[in-house]
Amino acid sequence: MKIGIQQMSKFMIVIFGGSGDLTKRKLIPALFTLFKKGTLENDFFILGVGRTSYTDATYRSYIEKEMETYIKKDPADASITKEFLAHLFYLSMDPAAKELYGGLATHIDTLTGEKETNNILYYLATPPSLYGLIPLYLQSVHLNREGTRIIIEKPFGSNLAECVALNKTYASVFHENQIYRIDHYLGKETVQDILAFRFANSIFEPIWNRNYIDYVEITAVENIGIELRGAFYDSVGALRDMVQNHLIQLVALAAMEPPAIFDAHYFRDEIVKVYASLVPLQEEDFNEHIIRGQYTASKDAKGYREEQHVDPESRTETFIAMKLAINNWRWQGVPFFIRTGKQMPTKVSEIVIHFKQTPHSLFNCGPHKCQTANTLIIRIQPNEGIIFKIGVKEPGSNFTIKQVDMDFSYNQIKETPITDAYSKLIEDCIHGNPTLFTRSDAVEASWCFFNPIVNYWEKHPDSPLHGYPAGTWGPLESELLVVDHDAKWTNPCKNLTDSDKYCEL
Ligand code: BG6
Repeated sequence: MKIGIQQMSKFMIVIFGGSGDLTKRKLIPALFTLFKKGTLENDFFILGVGRTSYTDATYRSYIEKEMETYIKKDPADASITKEFLAHLFYLSMDPAAKELYGGLATHIDTLTGEKETNNILYYLATPPSLYGLIPLYLQSVHLNREGTRIIIEKPFGSNLAECVALNKTYASVFHENQIYRIDHYLGKETVQDILAFRFANSIFEPIWNRNYIDYVEITAVENIGIELRGAFYDSVGALRDMVQNHLIQLVALAAMEPPAIFDAHYFRDEIVKVYASLVPLQEEDFNEHIIRGQYTASKDAKGYREEQHVDPESRTETFIAMKLAINNWRWQGVPFFIRTGKQMPTKVSEIVIHFKQTPHSLFNCGPHKCQTANTLIIRIQPNEGIIFKIGVKEPGSNFTIKQVDMDFSYNQIKETPITDAYSKLIEDCIHGNPTLFTRSDAVEASWCFFNPIVNYWEKHPDSPLHGYPAGTWGPLESELLVVDHDAKWTNPCKNLTDSDKYCEL
């Protein structure tokens, strides 16, 4: 087994929230991938910890069934699945009960047959309210040994004060190099490709600034509602669920300066610099620069307030569009428009870089408004790839300009399939590489920007929250957000599939 410095020892992965949604959807498939790849070999144990009552055997049957739903079928997997399941164990235990942690320590010793192993990776896939307790309870029974690692899901704190307090708690229990704050967007191949695209090609860097770029658009929307996560989502909302972490990471990657060296230290320094350069929004700008929405019923879907475990009078946002400004030489005057939402017409995540129009228009464009600005679309999912829109002469016309696509799709390099984000990040953690995890100062810097917004909403619960019918592109007010800049959201067509074809409304 490859586990950094501890190659010879047995390896234990303890998942708090082992019977929860994230475990079955993401963690088990990711661990199974690592098992098939050989990253996890022979002497490893996956211990699910949770309140639901299972024995090892019933937990294995439950996971086996869920694997059928969440892992793409491959007949070759049948015997490997059995082998993998044999590494799974379960401990029925309330992670909020401090007095039960002694039992956890004993259970780990019994399973590994080793006294006080430190070759342990803890994964916190629990409700965020437990993030501050679990490390302290681990410490109370010396399970925070040198060499152990801990992965914590987002949101890391629900405001700046909580985030700072959590950082303090973690720093009192673990060293920063044992702490892995996960944001699975950074594990996506295509998100990492933003860096390769920008810094491995010499032609884009000279034009990647305010002189050539008119505005930047970042979208990460989904065509599903909140499914069975009502209780979690209603206390979190789109800002904490998607914007303060996933979307702002995408802003950082699109906007950052090239790091001196591509390593955990220099790369994460550049991310923090972007967050520190975000122009703080003033209260009087909130309603104009931030559009909050909540989906309402349509003929195909129920409204948010009718969802299970959601307050029927909830004012939690399921959609956000924002205008951000970055105060530095590169980006002065270039707006970054970002948006996220549930129950949109399709699932898509992409960054669209809008270059400036040509300074002087020589040609006509037929009956439509002349579109001579180039656009670069970095498609994170689905149909992962990059599309560059350029103007060409329409054949046979009298110099009428038409926009066409130069496109690269990851499908073109099928021999190396795209790795799933969770398996990439768990593997990085196993190998002790924190580059793609969020550092304590980065999560605080991000919260510094968003904190006044969440405070304001708390103090002004009646601030505007616009309804939008499920299956539409969000409240009309989000169109007005971009119109001042003579901009328009790029809306891909409905029901995008994984095929090569890019389509736009
Ligand atoms: C998670 C959010 O972090 O990201 C979910 O909690 C969201 O609400 C998901 O659905 C989206 O991730 P992806 O990888 O499907 O874009």
